[in-house]
Amino acid sequence: MSQGYLISLEGLDGVGKTTQLKRLQDWLEGDTREVLAVREPGGTPLGEALRQLVLHRVDASSALAEFLTFAAARAELMESVVLPALNRGAVVLMDRFIDSSVAYQAFGRGMDRATVMYINQVVTQGRMPDLTIWLRGEPFPTAEADHLEQRDREYFARVDAGYQWLAKEDAKRFVIIDSRQGEDTILQALQTHIESLMRLNKGGE
Ligand code: TYD
Repeated sequence: MSQGYLISLEGLDGVGKTTQLKRLQDWLEGDTREVLAVREPGGTPLGEALRQLVLHRVDASSALAEFLTFAAARAELMESVVLPALNRGAVVLMDRFIDSSVAYQAFGRGMDRATVMYINQVVTQGRMPDLTIWLRGEPFPTAEADHLEQRDREYFARVDAGYQWLAKEDAKRFVIIDSRQGEDTILQALQTHIESLMRLNKGGE
């Protein structure tokens, strides 16, 4: 059984996930546990190469092809980095994970949700996050709001609806935090949820 903690941060582009993840990492490193922070897609040589491809070089016209690229990066990351770290008892912080595919590829791009969830389960070897924090902001990036085309607004609204669906579906592991609050307030909320996850687990040992 894996001893570690798998914590994922989710949300639309630009809600401050990466900043919070870095701060959480610094905070957790004061503890005795090993802490590992990874991003998706990425975190392995193959994952980083696929990231370049899918985010910067080539637009996939097929949502399925796009999803399978994210899934390939995810399979590599799980098998070679995340699962071994969890087995060592590490706290693994993930900047995006399985829920991004459900929100973006299923809800955003219209892929069949059950297929996305099934392949997610295969590539993660069934390891779900212990805690998922959804940093919820505007359904479209505010800085660019004025320049966004209607099509993109609708796309981001669908992704947001995807996260809402997930948070309801899996309410036990999902925590929703308003990303429009101050950075310190958000960090405190995240710390409270992580502390309570770890306390809960200690109590169960
Ligand atoms: P990234 O540059 O990491 O920025 P951010 O996380 O701050 O938005 O971009 C990752 C992009 O990849 C983001 O637009 C969401 C997308 N993505 C998916 O569409 N599906 C996935 O499964 C993952 C992991 C990411």
